[in-house]
Amino acid sequence: MKEIINHLKDFGFVFQGSEIYGGLANTWDYGHLGVVLKNKIKLAWWDFFIKNNQYNIGLDSSILLNSKVWKASGHLDSFNDPLIDCKECKFRFRADSLIQHYFPDLNCDGWSVEKLDTFITEKQLKCLNCQKFNFTKVRQFQLMFEINQGLLQDQGNKLYLRPETAQGIFINLNNIKKAYNKKLPFGIGQIGKSFRNEITPGNFIFRTLEFEQMELEFFYSPEDKTNWFQYWLAEMTKFIESLGIAKDSYQLREHDKEELSHYSLGTTDVQYQFPFGTKELCGIANRGSFDLVKHSEASKTKFLVEDRTTNKPVMPLVVEPSMGIERLFLAIICENLVQEEIESKKRIVLKLNPLLAPYHVAVASLNKKKLGPKAQEVFELLAKSCIDVFFEQKSEIGKVYNYHDQIGTLYCVTVDYQTLEDSKVTVRNRDTMNQERVEINSLKKYLYDKLNIIF
Ligand code: GAP
Repeated sequence: MKEIINHLKDFGFVFQGSEIYGGLANTWDYGHLGVVLKNKIKLAWWDFFIKNNQYNIGLDSSILLNSKVWKASGHLDSFNDPLIDCKECKFRFRADSLIQHYFPDLNCDGWSVEKLDTFITEKQLKCLNCQKFNFTKVRQFQLMFEINQGLLQDQGNKLYLRPETAQGIFINLNNIKKAYNKKLPFGIGQIGKSFRNEITPGNFIFRTLEFEQMELEFFYSPEDKTNWFQYWLAEMTKFIESLGIAKDSYQLREHDKEELSHYSLGTTDVQYQFPFGTKELCGIANRGSFDLVKHSEASKTKFLVEDRTTNKPVMPLVVEPSMGIERLFLAIICENLVQEEIESKKRIVLKLNPLLAPYHVAVASLNKKKLGPKAQEVFELLAKSCIDVFFEQKSEIGKVYNYHDQIGTLYCVTVDYQTLEDSKVTVRNRDTMNQERVEINSLKKYLYDKLNIIF
């Protein structure tokens, strides 16, 4: 993990949050390449789940919702983490993380507060900070961040930063149904920030206070016998693989009854083999009619949508594939950042899928003064297209290749002295390191063919 974190920092993907003030635990900032990679993940999700899916449409709801939403959804009462405090040094831990520190192979997901408490007491687990054994009892802590609305704190309304984007979708169901004349089955997806007051063991961007989710709430009729849970689970794994995560790097894990979220009738996680353990990458939940029933009771609103087969208005059931962008980002990096040795030369390459590479092409020249203007022409030719192109100022070509291998650029195009004579450039492939001479006139077409971009 250390090497991965250093790589992402050195190449400007991810920086520690508030670093010059000593940091703020579990917050991270994204530099240019990090933003580009995140944006590409989001675009890939949107294309896969919304644009190219016949059933689904999008939404962008507010982060701040009326507090009644969180009361009705059950989050105010049931969205908690089991925490334990060291009475000696006042350090606070997630009880399950403390256990897993000492017993890494033990899965205590879904253990009750009592079971966690008994285990810690029986095994006399020591505080990870001061090494003493003197803990409070395990207690449930609210995961939602509270904020105050209004000028005076005590007169203000208590609001919450949303811990999931899903509720914004449920409360807009009737608006969307009416505006887009939707009939069941159909899905509503959105991408946006969520916030959780997490105490974490600090696995980099794996579990953070603020993160982005890509969620789809898929609504279908109770009479519809299609197994939408299996359908969306298969779609979710197909999507992950399309981003360059190999089949044997992830596994599925069904939640036990005791560990299900308060809204779920059944959940399956996709777990990824991170360097710090096999952990949840994303998940799919069968939310049944839980949320719509709760909002219906609390707001006195009816949620009835016509089934497109029977034309009968019914209260829909819901399946929810949900993913965190940062976890996907981390898994993609872990999967594709490789060190290889070719002809006794070592190199580090970020073998990102073409969909996600921050640049498709970098244009460089062997001499900035003499060849720079020609390289500029090539850059402009490619920049006015759907190719993501970077104009490289460095002219030491070995260093150019080395840098672009490490950030994932797919091709380096080099203008050399011969270019001035034959109007050809050298195109070097990141993965094979093969080089080809290509005419500038046909360069765009050559790259489109290689990148499989359709006009
Ligand atoms: N609406 C359902 C929901 O929020 P979840 O399993 O709590 O379900 C869904 O979260 C996904 O969001 C997770 O699989 C993970 O990818 C991501 N996620 C959740 N909490 C996170 C955190 N604190 N930091 C980063 N990502 C997180």
